[in-house]
Amino acid sequence: MSRFSSIPNNVDLESDKRLQRALEQWQPDFLSWWTEMGPDGFQQHDVWLRTAISVEPNGWAHYDYVKMPDYRWGIFLVPQDKDRKIHFGDNIGRPAWNEVPGELRGTLRRIIVTQADTEPASVEQQRALGHTAPSLYDMRNLFQVNVEEGRHLWAMVHLLHQYFGRDGREEAEELLQRRSGNPDKPRILRTFNERTDDWLSFFMFTMFTDRDGKYQLAALAQSGFDPLARATQFMLTEEAFHLFVGETGIERVVRRSAQLEKSAPAGDVRKVGGIDLPTIQKYINFWFSSSVELFGGEVSSNAAEYFATSLKGRYREDQKSDNLALDAAYDIDVLEAGRLVRQQVPLRNAMNEVLRDEYVADCERAVRRWNKAIAEEGGTFELRLPHRRFNRSMGIYSGHRFDVDGNPISDEQFEAGRDGWLPSEADREHVRSLMTPVHEPGKYANWIAPPNKGVGGQGVDFEYVRGPAA
Ligand SMILES: [Fe+2]
Ligand SMILES: [Fe+2]
Repeated sequence: MSRFSSIPNNVDLESDKRLQRALEQWQPDFLSWWTEMGPDGFQQHDVWLRTAISVEPNGWAHYDYVKMPDYRWGIFLVPQDKDRKIHFGDNIGRPAWNEVPGELRGTLRRIIVTQADTEPASVEQQRALGHTAPSLYDMRNLFQVNVEEGRHLWAMVHLLHQYFGRDGREEAEELLQRRSGNPDKPRILRTFNERTDDWLSFFMFTMFTDRDGKYQLAALAQSGFDPLARATQFMLTEEAFHLFVGETGIERVVRRSAQLEKSAPAGDVRKVGGIDLPTIQKYINFWFSSSVELFGGEVSSNAAEYFATSLKGRYREDQKSDNLALDAAYDIDVLEAGRLVRQQVPLRNAMNEVLRDEYVADCERAVRRWNKAIAEEGGTFELRLPHRRFNRSMGIYSGHRFDVDGNPISDEQFEAGRDGWLPSEADREHVRSLMTPVHEPGKYANWIAPPNKGVGGQGVDFEYVRGPAA
């Protein structure tokens, strides 16, 4: 039995000696990265964790108390369809690739590395949060997200090791060397260098930033490179829970805020230890505008190339009727001499914007759900998404100023409005002041409502995280 018999997998790791050797060299480096940059503290605690053990729709996961360093980071691809054909782009109709086509090697590697880099980055961003968890339920959810982002890194590193030879091994090492927020060796994408050191930011991250991940993974799940399609498809199964943590986390904060408003003197939620809805709105403005950038430029030759080469499709490409997207155009509002003017661009060049449309619609659905929670508690405040042009630093709207409705404004107007739109230092300070740990089973911090139900077959007052026996 090799030491890899302990790694749950369905890629026949046992019989691939070359792959085993590569992963065997990488594994100790991953574990030292986890020790150095994974969750701070709680590593010897028993955590009620889900572990992926197969790709069977019913029964793919197993729940038990696990110490995080003992979590079994597995490698799973959804089963191969041997007859699968490429269904979009210029290679449409050809058999799906099971080896990297030589001429696409560089492009494909960049796609995989960019996706892979976000996984350890988010773990680094969230590493201190265990200490201030508002409940054991939330702490467990944080750690669940963290170990699964670790598994997603494994999934991508498996592809690099198996299909990219020495370059792949080098990239896999570098994934453990970059550090979120480090000016000398930052993570690749800006949002993954943002601080996520309070729980409201954590919920915003899992709502808005992880949701970008969902759409990127869904687009890659269409890929003509079959191992990438099969790996990302399975990652999406786990990702659904991360998005649940974000969306319901914000809903619980919003609901609590609306509840507190009723009893607070002059409706001042801050006075009674809550997060007021206008502050939550500013966090939404910040995290939405930062996450919406992750889709890339509105008009992009890279996006066109990824589609043309059949490496990255649209969301649910397999359900679209025109999989060539050659003759169609897309309308984009561009700024000309201070005015917005509608321009047509070839659809392939607008693929980032097309994916962003799906994302924005999904976020709007979540906002409606939060507003419903406010109304249920008798509140009247309405949350909203800022316009996608607001507060951008990349793409055609960067270098210009827009208000939250997307209207062009001057630098002076933006500066004057800034503290009303984005979290001020005082807002952040208030949120941080509430971040005191609640680590007793069944208890929840005052600023957040308890969940409707527990997770992993347990109730809301289960001891989801258990300290080492004294
Ligand atoms: Fe992930
Ligand atoms: Fe995630």
